[in-house]
Amino acid sequence: MRYDKKRTIFYNVLFIVFCAALFLFLWNAPPETTKKLPQDKIHQRFQNMGKKAAEQFCEKCHNPKGEVPLPKKHPPKYRCLLCHKQTRK
Ligand code: HEC
Ligand code: HEC
Repeated sequence: MRYDKKRTIFYNVLFIVFCAALFLFLWNAPPETTKKLPQDKIHQRFQNMGKKAAEQFCEKCHNPKGEVPLPKKHPPKYRCLLCHKQTRK
């Protein structure tokens, strides 16, 4: 009886630790590796714009025939600024 209870608690703790680790992994991994919206003349005006408003301009240049096409292995590109973070002031 006591043994069973201890084991249940053990597995519950294990489960919580696992969830926390998974959550931290998912939360931390992408922003650290994905490039931010560049801070240069071209992109400066998008830094403080609403995300949805700014994203309408991205593909004017970043399209397969534009000046800076996305890399071939680019992930699904819906909502640029959720991945390429703005640096707001
Ligand atoms: C007027 C054309 C133009 C528009 C509009 C534009 N970009 Fe760019 N983008 C460029 C050019 C040119 C480069 C390469 C030079 C540089 O880094 O600025 C670039 C580079 C990038 C890079 C790569 C930076 C790096 O470090 O390699 C990212 C990410 C990016 N743009 C995201 C965006 C997003 C998101 C938007 C929409 C909010 C956007 N761009 C709108 C022209 C544009
Ligand atoms: C799901 C996340 C995600 C979304 C949404 C997304 N990107 Fe990316 N993008 C990435 C990743 C990951 C890379 C490759 C790693 C890196 O940043 O160098 C990348 C690379 C790029 C690059 C090349 C950077 C370089 O190293 O030369 C450009 C330019 C770019 N993205 C622009 C855009 C634009 C414009 C949009 C919207 C139309 C967009 N991205 C949407 C995640 C994303």
